[in-house]
Amino acid sequence: MKKNETTIQPAKMKDAVEIAKIITRETKKYGDILSKNETDILVNLFGYFTIKDRNKIIGICGLKIWPSRQAEIISLWVNKNYRKNGWGRELIKKCIEKGKEHGIKEFFALSTSPKFFEKIGFSCVNFSYFPAKVWTDCVKCAKNAGYPGHPKCNETPMLLIVK
Ligand SMILES: CC(C)(COP(=O)(O)OP(=O)(O)OC[C@H]1O[C@@H](n2cnc3c(N)ncnc32)[C@H](O)[C@@H]1OP(=O)(O)O)[C@@H](O)C(=O)NCCC(=O)NCCS
Repeated sequence: MKKNETTIQPAKMKDAVEIAKIITRETKKYGDILSKNETDILVNLFGYFTIKDRNKIIGICGLKIWPSRQAEIISLWVNKNYRKNGWGRELIKKCIEKGKEHGIKEFFALSTSPKFFEKIGFSCVNFSYFPAKVWTDCVKCAKNAGYPGHPKCNETPMLLIVK
């Protein structure tokens, strides 16, 4: 997709450092996204898309495949100045298209913006739909104090099943 100078494209190796920097900065400021370092980005690089405006990254979204054969939408972020223009929706669409090409039927997200995901077609479910995620990531998350759904946890589990 292209809107004037702004394009959405698969992430490249050279983007990994900047993606990690942006995600780390946003996590520190707002905590809406799970912190990622450069290695985390590189191991999932094939699932990542970026939006660039004249070579500057203004949007990020990734897809992480779990052994349950479900794919998680990760690192979703759109630069504040570009929000409410359809870029978030477009990033998710790209990730889902790519996942479908690889035979993935279930996509999930743990989100602080559940209304946004509902607009894209996701539904709110229980954490028990993603046991691998819960026992790998949630148990280590300070927000969850050891278990998802803890009063400190502000994430909503969202699921989309495609044909
Ligand atoms: C969530 C986020 C990615 C949305 O990006 P965006 O480019 O503004 O989203 P879009 O313009 O594609 O919005 C699609 C629809 O969702 C709505 N929407 C966007 N953000 C929303 C939000 N936070 N809450 C409710 N609805 C939202 C839009 O109004 C639009 O509705 P419409 O189709 O009726 O017009 C962006 O706000 C962001 O980066 N937030 C900070 C990081 C974050 O929260 N990431 C998600 C963690 S899982």
